[in-house]
Amino acid sequence: QTFYLSDYTPFGYEVRDVALRFVLSPSATRVHSRITFAPNPAASDKTFFLHGEQLKLIRAAINGAEVTPNITPEGLTCDVPDSEFVWEAEVEIAPAENTALEGLYMSNGMYCTQCEAEGFRKITYYPDRPDVMSTFTVRIESDLPIMLSNGNPGETGAGYAEWHDPWPKPAYLFALVAGDLVGHADTFTTKSGNQVDLNIWVRPGDEDKCAFGMQALKDSMKWDEDVYGREYDLNTFNIVAVDDFNMGAMENKGLNIFNSSCVLASPATSTDANFERIEAIIAHEYFHNWTGNRITCRDWFQLCLKEGLTVFRDAQFTSDMRGEAVKRIHDVIELRARQFPEDQGPLSHPVRPEQFQEINNFYTATVYEKGAEVIGMLKRLVGDDAYAKALDLYFDRHDGQACTIEDWLTVFEDATGRDLAQFKRWYSQSGTPRLSVTDSYQDGTYTLTFKQSTPPTPGQMVKDPKVIPIAVGLLGPNGDEVQPTVTLEMTDAEQSFAFDGLGSKPIPSILRGFSAPVVLDRDTSAEERAFLLAHDTDPFNRWEANRELARTTLIAMIRDDAAPDEAWLEGLERVITDTTLDANYRALMMSGPSQSELAQTLHEMGITPDPDAIWTASDRLGQTMAERWEAHLPGLLAESTVTEAYRPDSHQAGQRALGAAVLALQTRLDRGASARAQFETADNMTLQLSALTCLVRSGNDEEALSSFAAQWKDDRLVMDKWFGMQIAATLPDRAADRAKALTEHPAFDWKNPNRFRAVFGSLSMNHAGFHRADGASYDLLADWLITLDDKNPQTTARMCSAFQTWKRYDAGRKAKMQAALERIQGKDGLSRDTAEMVGRILS
Ligand code: ARG
Ligand code: ZN
Repeated sequence: QTFYLSDYTPFGYEVRDVALRFVLSPSATRVHSRITFAPNPAASDKTFFLHGEQLKLIRAAINGAEVTPNITPEGLTCDVPDSEFVWEAEVEIAPAENTALEGLYMSNGMYCTQCEAEGFRKITYYPDRPDVMSTFTVRIESDLPIMLSNGNPGETGAGYAEWHDPWPKPAYLFALVAGDLVGHADTFTTKSGNQVDLNIWVRPGDEDKCAFGMQALKDSMKWDEDVYGREYDLNTFNIVAVDDFNMGAMENKGLNIFNSSCVLASPATSTDANFERIEAIIAHEYFHNWTGNRITCRDWFQLCLKEGLTVFRDAQFTSDMRGEAVKRIHDVIELRARQFPEDQGPLSHPVRPEQFQEINNFYTATVYEKGAEVIGMLKRLVGDDAYAKALDLYFDRHDGQACTIEDWLTVFEDATGRDLAQFKRWYSQSGTPRLSVTDSYQDGTYTLTFKQSTPPTPGQMVKDPKVIPIAVGLLGPNGDEVQPTVTLEMTDAEQSFAFDGLGSKPIPSILRGFSAPVVLDRDTSAEERAFLLAHDTDPFNRWEANRELARTTLIAMIRDDAAPDEAWLEGLERVITDTTLDANYRALMMSGPSQSELAQTLHEMGITPDPDAIWTASDRLGQTMAERWEAHLPGLLAESTVTEAYRPDSHQAGQRALGAAVLALQTRLDRGASARAQFETADNMTLQLSALTCLVRSGNDEEALSSFAAQWKDDRLVMDKWFGMQIAATLPDRAADRAKALTEHPAFDWKNPNRFRAVFGSLSMNHAGFHRADGASYDLLADWLITLDDKNPQTTARMCSAFQTWKRYDAGRKAKMQAALERIQGKDGLSRDTAEMVGRILS
């Protein structure tokens, strides 16, 4: 069954109030619901349909009188009065048997829920759609010490706890947690003086991994007050860490539930990257309180309304906490690595999709990350002040509502007087626009001429021109900025912009800050790029110039077996030895494009990528750099050594990132001696893991891997790293065999999504290893996806995207990937989630 945006109709009834009572038991939990419905005057269709899946109905009543509804696998219908009435139901569910991790399930003896997008219907019969909002009162009965739900705590006593959420919400924001948990408590006083009790709940033993998350939460609460004027609105805010979770985290009202990997942190067990990610995800879920919960989505097609905006907000927060340039560069690397392949392959879909079979398949890089890019463009076009004004209007006008992208854009139109009809194409047209540029100079006038076009994507053959904000600066021959950044607003398929009054032909710095999510085509000379690498005042474009040079060199090495470009290496050497530059930034300069990014670039150039050639060229470039910079390496290593106690801040993280990049080169020269020394003396996970990664890459890793496993065998999150890194970093010809061997390891708990992803996510990230010519990795992944699909369709479906680029490879690999996909597709009883993904990938 396919659902369409254009089919939207409101539900025939409003929900006035919901009261739920849970009597918990692992295989026979009883859920009693008492819901007040009233006919919805805005709806013409008065069918009383309640969603409900895998529920055993014990009893149903309307206004106290027993009724016998019509039940199907999707839900029930029933005759109801034509004025307000009370619906009561009692159902039985089995959380212990719920391996899909959607609805109410058990993880390590604790009860927890995941309802977004459509999991509430596995808890009780309900209109499980985001435009139906209601207040909830919840009573939980069990003998477990901690019982939590949304909102503010109510009465508690022996064997029960009550919660009341005064803010109307859709069912997808419902949550319940019960277990033997310990809390890390703190408080936050809002700007109007309300004291909020904060708690991070974890399993006993994890208490020492909560402090960082708590600080991140308080920082987020403060930031949202300072920057968006958004205050928290309950007297309690709870976070719970859960080991078995399909996604990163979930913003349930007042009760955020986190994958434990996205909240638990300590220096000994977490890397700098983990700390940064945890801080961002805590912020993200907290920010949803306003962008998602107070203002929610009318239907799931509008998912980007809350996700694009909340990703944009968490990126702003991280920029403020850790530095703008580095955050922007990280985000663009991610966008190109995850969103560009999606947008340019069979899974391409608009930021606001117009159809789906299974909405869980649309929690994608396009909805999230491109959705955030679209907001960044909007902000750049209207300016910071107008953006702030529009957001105030959005919160004023739509608080308590379930909204659409039209509502969102209208707020901007009303606040600025701009017509956003053309801009809206960013929400409806899929595909990555290509932007090409030529320039000319005459009599003091410099002209840039841009052409935009977007290649066809599935279901969308013709594309109209978009509004593209192109941030441009001009540099004079000495590297001085003759034109500071201006945003050119491109609206036509082809358009020129002139700058006059110039003394000589300038060097343009185009698409500063990556002002639009496009592929920029420009035949720039290596000299010009080297000039920008040396002089660009825009830190993003300075990095980008280097990236372009690295890409060009690597592509020449891949295609023509060329030698690495001398002039570039000299320019880069000046940057990485420039101690006035931020260490983080220098580390980013040292890390060249990944192998999959090179494959993506080749594909964009119309060339079939050869994974082995890409690997060989990348390896050869690393070797060249190591040999060439041999004399600098010890000094750089010393410079990047942190002498103070470990702090997960961006300053120290930058030093360690630089150190890791240098250690990778050093390992090529000393056969791992420096890495082994670092591995043995490391007192934090960042250093321990970067050393181990170098050893794995050098192929000389057996001893270090086993001592690491012996040290960390009791820490699930660290063991996930152990499983993952030895597959991700190993030599390509070993990756498939390693992954296979690890699936036979006693600690390979394949029903745990983190562990499954540690093995197979890493295998798919080892580009040449995944694309081993004999298809060994494809077959292994297909076997395991077929196995996992019975237990956990959501995680299975997501991991199918490892195959999304199959069509771009050579005939041999293509045929093998196609066969693997068809084998998955042919499985008996394949889930709707996986069937949709494989079907789209193959189409
Ligand atoms: N709303 C959550 C977040 O971004 C993601 C939950 C997605 N869950 C799912 N089953 N698709 O923060
Ligand atoms: Zn989100």
